[in-house]
Amino acid sequence: AYFQGDQKGPVFLKEPTNRIDFSNSTGAEIECKASGNPMPEIIWIRSDGTAVGDVPGLRQISSDGKLVFPPFRAEDYRQEVHAQVYACLARNQFGSIISRDVHVRAVVAQYYEADVNKEHVIRGNSAVIKCLIPSFVADFVEVVSWHTDEEENYFPGAEYDGKYLVLPSGELHIREVGPEDGYKSYQCRTKHRLTGETRLSATKGRLVITEPISSSAPRTPALVQKPLELMVAHTISLLCPAQGFPAPSFRWYKFIEGTTRKQAVVLNDRVKQVSGTLIIKDAVVEDSGKYLCVVNNSVGGESVETVLTVTAPLSAKIDPPTQTVDFGRPAVFTCQYTGNPIKTVSWMKDGKAIGHSESVLRIESVKKEDKGMYQCFVRNDRESAEASAELKLG
Ligand SMILES: *[C@@H]1O[C@H](CO)[C@@H](O)[C@H](O)[C@H]1NC(C)=O
Ligand SMILES: *[C@@H]1O[C@H](CO)[C@@H](O)[C@H](O)[C@H]1NC(C)=O
Repeated sequence: AYFQGDQKGPVFLKEPTNRIDFSNSTGAEIECKASGNPMPEIIWIRSDGTAVGDVPGLRQISSDGKLVFPPFRAEDYRQEVHAQVYACLARNQFGSIISRDVHVRAVVAQYYEADVNKEHVIRGNSAVIKCLIPSFVADFVEVVSWHTDEEENYFPGAEYDGKYLVLPSGELHIREVGPEDGYKSYQCRTKHRLTGETRLSATKGRLVITEPISSSAPRTPALVQKPLELMVAHTISLLCPAQGFPAPSFRWYKFIEGTTRKQAVVLNDRVKQVSGTLIIKDAVVEDSGKYLCVVNNSVGGESVETVLTVTAPLSAKIDPPTQTVDFGRPAVFTCQYTGNPIKTVSWMKDGKAIGHSESVLRIESVKKEDKGMYQCFVRNDRESAEASAELKLG
């Protein structure tokens, strides 16, 4: 039994994360918990709002409300089960709330090989050797180390002032290449983050060193730099692939937002430059923006632009979390959110979109049918977050 005053719509105690990747050999269990009075029931839904049921051997809903994906054989993979956007819905007689989007992805461990190719470099310039990872596993595989056939080993996150440096993005950066560097071969070791398995690249890379005969202006490969994205507090490297003779100098600039004016990037403990490569540690949202690398030597110059977005986890809160309003009186809910970037704001009432996209929701004159659970959602291309609040009638 409960008293009138204790009655309460659902509130999430444990909400699943935005992304759940798991291996077919481990399976996964996704928890969702809510409180309320009476105790809310938990239902799992798809993004179109339809309820999810059991699929024997592949997907179950446990008695305590968990969404369970047991380990499965490769041939039992089902796209609509194993690569799906789910959400959990909690409801009692006072209303319903929906969790953030949960992108579930099951991965069948597949054999892959990483490769290292030859790189051409003009003596005296820096070289960047890539560990080529097939795209079908690229999301799950990272470079853990580099090795030469002379038993030298290099790991990410080491000193920045040595000749060799493993960049946060996995490439091996070699400074001021000399003739002796052409005799070594290089292999990368990769690790699959779901299976934990590590593997040495199938091929060995080498540097092909060109002896300069005459001066040449710095040249960059004719590639468009992809926009980069990284999470706040992580480390990233911005490459400026250019070579010339004499070996060029590099200078990094950042555009002042919304203008064509730029300022030289200030180097410090957090922001380092290793020959042409800019390394930003402990990234902050303010590091986002458009960067320009200007490369010059005595015979010419070039420049390369890169756009960087530093993302911060989304979160939301509604103020006030509950309000009791008399019939005919106004009610106001304010959605307070943090994170970057925020692309959309939307509201739901009892699990249904109400077509409102501003951060303040105002009901001029509260009617009986307005009581219930309100939610605001903030979203970007990768993430979503929600907050809920209850409107009670006085
Ligand atoms: C997962 O898939 C791999 C690759 O096909 C297979 O070797 C493994 O046995 C599977 N795991 C289970 C639990 O069936
Ligand atoms: C360096 O190269 C840039 C880009 O091509 C050019 O605009 C600039 O004039 C050059 N600076 C010097 C000092 O040569």
